[in-house]
Amino acid sequence: MTLNLPPAGHQTGSHTGPRTASGAGTHLAPPILVAKDLRVTYPNGYTALESFTMDVRPGEIVALLGHSGSGKSTFMKAATGMAPSTATQLTIDGQDVIGATGVELRRLRSKVGYVFQHFNLVPQLSALTNVLTGGLHHAGPANALGIFPRRQRERALELLDRVGLADKARQRADSLSGGQQQRVAIARALMQEPRIILADEPVASLDPRLAGSVLRLMRRIAREDGIPVVVSLHIVDLAVRYADRFVALEAGQVRHTGSVEALTPDMVTDIYGQESEDDEEH
Ligand SMILES: Nc1ncnc2c1ncn2[C@@H]1O[C@H](COP(=O)(O)OP(=O)(O)OP(=O)(O)O)[C@@H](O)[C@H]1O
Ligand SMILES: [Mg+2]
Repeated sequence: MTLNLPPAGHQTGSHTGPRTASGAGTHLAPPILVAKDLRVTYPNGYTALESFTMDVRPGEIVALLGHSGSGKSTFMKAATGMAPSTATQLTIDGQDVIGATGVELRRLRSKVGYVFQHFNLVPQLSALTNVLTGGLHHAGPANALGIFPRRQRERALELLDRVGLADKARQRADSLSGGQQQRVAIARALMQEPRIILADEPVASLDPRLAGSVLRLMRRIAREDGIPVVVSLHIVDLAVRYADRFVALEAGQVRHTGSVEALTPDMVTDIYGQESEDDEEH
């Protein structure tokens, strides 16, 4: 684990933080996601998340940090009702997650754009069709037959253009590079018109340059569209560079949280242990 913190007061690139009047995200905007005293206990009795409290407001990027097994993916699952959870409050866009079933659960999941480490595209389908499947939450009967109205196709093409892949629309997903596949996955998430994006280690399979470009894209989406992003990351440098805030988990509990500017090397050692320093030498 490496950490090259920028000098105090330094803002990386066009990083402006969610509190600026950049359109997206002000500290007055109501949170899109609220988790209060969230607890997840799996059926085998293991408690993977405890006393977890966090809110996420429009326009911001929150990095989830923590060792393997600390509960990052568990949080992502709990947020969409995919893990056995209790909480004082767990809402997305004002809708209760806990207890949601059937139609409510589908509505809830349609509000969340998921981005995964391994992209999860349908390999034999084109980039465009993969993006179109993101709109299936709002599907009409023709969609189920693979027939998409022109309006949806135009929107999908616009999104591919936005992620820099307009020229790859017809190309099979499995012939795209990893970075390109992750961009298609982001376009697919946007097709869904989500209220929030949850990205579980979206750059863990990418080389550092591509990781930066994918996170820059996510930051742009957060800023320009006001869609907040919760992203789990294993590399602290990336959190410092691209996120606004961080939440560091240890054994299912929040160990440190704050703005990324406040993240100190001591905290990083505390979160990841001494090996974070050893790694720098190898
Ligand atoms: N379905 C399950 N049943 C029992 N325990 C589980 C289940 N899913 C996860 N766990 C446990 O919960 C803990 C948290 O797992 P989780 O996948 O949330 O960690 P993580 O922070 O995402 O780790 P990584 O960085 O490796 O992805 C781990 O100890 C894991 O073994
Ligand atoms: Mg995980």
